[in-house]
Amino acid sequence: MPDIKAQNCTITLDGNNYEFPVIIGTEGEKAIDISKLRDTTGYVTLDIGYKNTGATKSAITFLDGELGILRHRGYSIEDLAEKANFLEVAYLLLRGELPNKEQFEDFDNSVRHHTLVNEDLQNIFKTFPTGSHPMGQLIAMISSLSAYYPKALDPNRSAEAKSRTVLRLLAKMPTICAMIYKKRLGHPVVYPSNNLDYVSNFLNMTFKHVSDSDYQPDPVVVDAMNKLLILHADHEQNCSASTVRLVGSSQANLYATIAAGVAALWGPLHGGANQEVLEMLELIKADGGNVQKWVDKAKDKNDSFRLMGFGHRVYKNFDPRAKIIKKTCDDVLNKLGINDPVLEIAKKLEEAALTDSYFVERKLYPNVDFYSGIIYRAIGFPTEMFTALFALGRLPGWIAQWQEMAEEKQPIGRPRQIYTGQMPRTFIPRGERK
Ligand code: ACO
Repeated sequence: MPDIKAQNCTITLDGNNYEFPVIIGTEGEKAIDISKLRDTTGYVTLDIGYKNTGATKSAITFLDGELGILRHRGYSIEDLAEKANFLEVAYLLLRGELPNKEQFEDFDNSVRHHTLVNEDLQNIFKTFPTGSHPMGQLIAMISSLSAYYPKALDPNRSAEAKSRTVLRLLAKMPTICAMIYKKRLGHPVVYPSNNLDYVSNFLNMTFKHVSDSDYQPDPVVVDAMNKLLILHADHEQNCSASTVRLVGSSQANLYATIAAGVAALWGPLHGGANQEVLEMLELIKADGGNVQKWVDKAKDKNDSFRLMGFGHRVYKNFDPRAKIIKKTCDDVLNKLGINDPVLEIAKKLEEAALTDSYFVERKLYPNVDFYSGIIYRAIGFPTEMFTALFALGRLPGWIAQWQEMAEEKQPIGRPRQIYTGQMPRTFIPRGERK
């Protein structure tokens, strides 16, 4: 992977000068390589929340939060969302280039070949209480795949065997997500139809009734779903991708590693925000639709309420994905003839927040999760499924991040800390303690 060691920088500590390399990425991002800092100076760096720490070099995704740029392998998210399908983007993330016709057909066929899951997985579903959250089920189901493919536990297996695990995950994830949806309704599972493309197959398994042989996914919905999955496909070193890299760095198997990524995504400050956005909009609607009241609550430091779907750790201008998704949202609702009152509240909220100095000064803009939930709802997904849909989209990104980490033989991830606890003290036996 190319990196330019343009110069050294000098750090002065305790009156001594130390030289450290400065690394410049292909898009001009600058970093000080402090990997030898502790060995040479005795110091470590402290950066809680990794706000300013580059944990890896990566050739997968570039984003510029100030300029609102997002590119995968050099291709803009706008082009990919407009011109590619999700499986093409998955190929791009995993293999570095867009596939030609034959390469795509080969990849697509391989994925279609692995869409079925072991029937015994249905027994695991039976053990979940009715109404249990899809994300908890998804974590368990992905992790359980390691039991059906025990060879995947061997970190030294062949490249071909590793690539089969990747195909299995990509192929089975839509089947598992659709099963979760069906089981929650108490409906029979619809098996994969391998004559359908990736997204149509997922929609078919989700929305077709076993008794309804005429079901055809609406092309508008197929297109919107493709876009949504593409917009979520990767986002460089976010919380869940970093989790995947960290767990994978211990050489845990890929199923367990991806299950860990799904767990990280579940949190309301990360992927779980898409569910929270819709619940927040519903709450505002049920409360009479007074948007200003909720904007004021979000600004009140004594109130824990936050505007879900606003703000981002890296985007401080706008989230390019939110721009694309907003247009898709209008298209889907228009074409499906849906008049969702929650959308009106969303628009008012966005307007109020974007003109309010609190949000302007803190650079808090709508993020990808703000509009995705409205589209998912229009398509027919229940709110609790939203984060699982995010996971479905993010899967190729997680795998690409894991793959890059493994191929570069990166060492096990193991941060340092600054200990702030007790100094050594004498142990007092239980009976003698005051
Ligand atoms: N509503 C109200 N105030 C907010 C919000 C919000 N949504 N987000 C940030 N702020 C305020 C904070 O209170 C803080 O104010 P202060 O400087 O006066 O103390 C300031 O803006 C900076 O916020 P931080 O929490 O320090 O920003 P950070 O980068 O750590 O967090 C995050 C980013 C977690 C996304 C945050 O903006 C948030 O909680 N947003 C709502 C949840 C959400 O939408 N998450 C999805 C993110 S996108 C994704 O994961 C796909």
